[in-house]
Order: sequence, then C-alpha cells, then structure tokens
Amino acid sequence: IPVDPFDLVIFGGTGDLARRKILPALYRRFCDEQMPREARIIGAARTEQSPQEYRDWVAEGLKEFAPRSAADPDAMAGFLDRVDYLPVDAKGEGGWSDLKSKMRANVVQAFYFSVAPALFGDLAERLHHYGIAHEGARIVVEKPFGRDLGTARSLNATLAEHFDESQIYRIDHYLGKETVQNLMAVRFGNVLFEPLWNAQYVDHVQITVAESVGVGGRGSYYDKSGAMRDMVQNHLMQLLCLTAMEPPSRFEPDAVRDEKLKVIRALQSPPLKDIVRGQYKAGDNPSYLDDVEEPDSRTESFIAMKLHIANWRWNGTPFYLRTGKRLKTRKSEIVVHFKEPPHSIFDEDAGSRPNILSIRLQPDEGIDLSVTIKEPGPGGMRLIDVPLDMSFADALGPEAADVPDAYERLIMDVIRGNQTLFMRGDEVEAAWAWTDPLIEAWTERGDRPVPYEPGSAGPEDSAILMHRDSRRWREVG
Ligand code: BG6
Repeated sequence: IPVDPFDLVIFGGTGDLARRKILPALYRRFCDEQMPREARIIGAARTEQSPQEYRDWVAEGLKEFAPRSAADPDAMAGFLDRVDYLPVDAKGEGGWSDLKSKMRANVVQAFYFSVAPALFGDLAERLHHYGIAHEGARIVVEKPFGRDLGTARSLNATLAEHFDESQIYRIDHYLGKETVQNLMAVRFGNVLFEPLWNAQYVDHVQITVAESVGVGGRGSYYDKSGAMRDMVQNHLMQLLCLTAMEPPSRFEPDAVRDEKLKVIRALQSPPLKDIVRGQYKAGDNPSYLDDVEEPDSRTESFIAMKLHIANWRWNGTPFYLRTGKRLKTRKSEIVVHFKEPPHSIFDEDAGSRPNILSIRLQPDEGIDLSVTIKEPGPGGMRLIDVPLDMSFADALGPEAADVPDAYERLIMDVIRGNQTLFMRGDEVEAAWAWTDPLIEAWTERGDRPVPYEPGSAGPEDSAILMHRDSRRWREVG
C-alpha cells in the first residue's frame, strides 16, 4: 500500500548514511511501489552543487548499495525524478529561504537529521525560525543519541524546544529488523510461548550480537564509545526489552514503549565481576589498538555481561548479553533456554535435554526450537533433541530471503506517522541512566579490557562467566 505523498529532507544528504542506507532504502520502497508519485526527496548539505550533480551521485550510490534494483533503468530514472538538492548551511542562513519555498504544505513533511548531534539544535532552530516545518512535521534522528545521560538529556531538551515528542523519531535500526519485529509476533501471536515465558520455566536467556568486522575506518568515533555505548546501550538493550517486557495492551507506540521502559527501569546494575570487556588482538588484520591508533586505549571492542531483571516475571532468571567485533562470524540471536522437566520418568542414562528456542536475527533469519524425542531404533529409551527449524527462506519461499533492510521499514513508518519502532526520549534516558554508572565504575578502577584472538568467540573470561553458573554460550560460528 503506498504511503501518503511526502517531502523528505535529508540534512547530511551527501553523507555516508544517506548513500549507504537512507537512499537505497527509499529506492527499494519506490521499486515496490510504496512511494507515491508525488513523493519528493530533497538532499540538503553544505556542498554547492546542482540537483543534477546530486542525482548523479545518488545513482552511483544506488548501483553500489541497491545493485539488484538499480539494474532497471526505468525504475532508476523514475526514482531520480523525485530527487532534488539544495545547498543549506546548518550553522548559517544560506539556503533556508529556498528550502521554505520548496516545501509543500499539503503533504507529509519529514526532516532527517543525518548529521552530527552537535547540529541538531541549529537545524531545529532554523526549521522553526524560517517557519519551514508545519505542525505535523516529523524529525528523524540517528544514534548516537548522546554519550551519557547528561548529553542525551540536553539533546532531548534541544529538540523539545521546537518539536513535540510525537514528532520525534529516534532511530534504533535494530527495531526495524524483520526478526526483531518477529520476536513480538512469536511472543504475542502464539499461545504456545507466553505461558512459559517467565522465571518458572526459563532457565536463562542469551543475547548475542557478534560481528566479524573490526572498527574499520570508524576508529576515532568508536574509541570514544566502545561496545557498551555503541551496541549495548541501544541495540542489545532493545532486544532485551522486547524479550523481557510484559505484553503491551496493543501494538501501539506508547503501549509498547511503556512496557520497554519498565524493563529498563527494573534492570539491576551488575557487579563488575559479572562484566567481561575485551579488545581484539592482531591477526590477519591489525589489532584494535592499531585500528584506533591509540596504543594505550582502554576502550572495549567486546563485552559480555550477566544481568538480572528485578521483577516478578524474571526473578532468578539471568540474561546474558554479549557483543563484539572481529569475532568468528557475523551472527545475532536471542536464545531462550527453558528449564528441564521437573521430574524425569526415564532412566538416568536416557539423558535429559532442555528445550531451547533461538531467534536468529541475522544472517539466515529464522526461529528454531529444539524438542526432545526418543532416539530412533530398538536400543531402549534414549533422549535426543531435534530442531523444529523454521528458516524464513525455507518456510516462506525465496521472497522471504530478500529481507527488507531495517531502514526501509523505519522510513516508511516515519511517513505513516507510526512511532512504535522508535525510541521515546524517556527510554533513551533510562538506558543511559543504567549504562553510565557501569562505565564510570570500570573507568574509575582503571580496568583494562582483556585481549582476545580475532576470529574467536571473545575472551576466555566470557566463557568463564558462563561456566561459573554451569552454563555455556551457544557457539558463535
Ligand atoms: C551500529 C554500530 O549501530 O550497528 C556499529 O554503530 C555496528 O558499530 C552496527 O557495526 C551493526 O549493525 P548491523 O545491522 O550490521 O547488525
């Protein structure tokens, strides 16, 4: 179903995010006929160039980042027809009156702040001052949303000066991933899981976001953040919330976000002994320290932690989180380990197997439930587990293998005016309020991350964190 006609202004329209993610996502939605004929995308940045020069640059980007769709010259021409460009000076007055005259009053207006957070205030103020954004206009902002509670609060306050919370769309692209949304469908669309989804039946939960890449060219940003700020405060926290939250009364923005907020507020601060931080060593590629060009850096490229949620549902069920760079493979999953049956009717040597539900976010999106059965054959009762494996590509056909990028879903939700998959200001602040004291504690103690082999599952201490509780991580690769 096509969305309503819109004017989408991308501030930072010549930047990396626009080229890699935003424009390809819009283009794919266009190819799927979800972008109406009257939709317009206006790139805005400091560079002085003509709309045609911008369109040429956009076309090059699409060939690289949306190659399959870009192969169709008619589609490409149709899309580029909707693309415009305007040089705009975020910190000065240049271009703003022109932008005002370009914007149409009778369509959805969205302004994507794909720029450094330091410019949010300048942009918001000028949109207001020049009377460009109408009342229902939407503002889209990216992470990092602050680097601690103080900076997040001041960003929220800056935006709130000119826009209502209902107009602000804070992106956490993990929420746009198909399987992350599927987590809610699995939990709340089936009667099967929810009755068991609590401390009485769940032994523990593992959330892993493993990456095989290093910090690449983003060293200077990354070294000021580390895995805690870059991944845990946002993406892993969101996965934890969706896994642990109470059923919202409706799949609606505030109903869902209220429940997520309650989880963050119930999340206990773990002791430092329950946190493992690591840095990758050199292998075929340079070490973390060489990548960030800071020989004495104490920033972590890996983190594992054991967490407790202090509420009735989860009392006594730990959540183990881990994420890191230069690990064995790229793999993200949420694994729910159920408890063993309370009493076994079989002989001890039959063995016993807990059920395990794993939700694979990437790659090969799917859901897998291990079920205990009898080992086939005449040799008596021996129990084994077999997977009830549902790879979306197998179950739903090849089209399902073409999983839409998170940005496709999220940008269309901005146009639709649906904030369910976006973070509310209080949620982001609560996540920082939980994160800050931990970072302060290890910084104060002067802790150094432990080195780990690239291509591994992270430092040995991460495995030990589990062994201490007689548990083990699922294999990373
Ligand atoms: C970003 C982080 O938010 O998410 C990156 O800043 C990380 O460091 C990326 O690589 C991971 O996203 P995805 O979609 O590739 O899992």
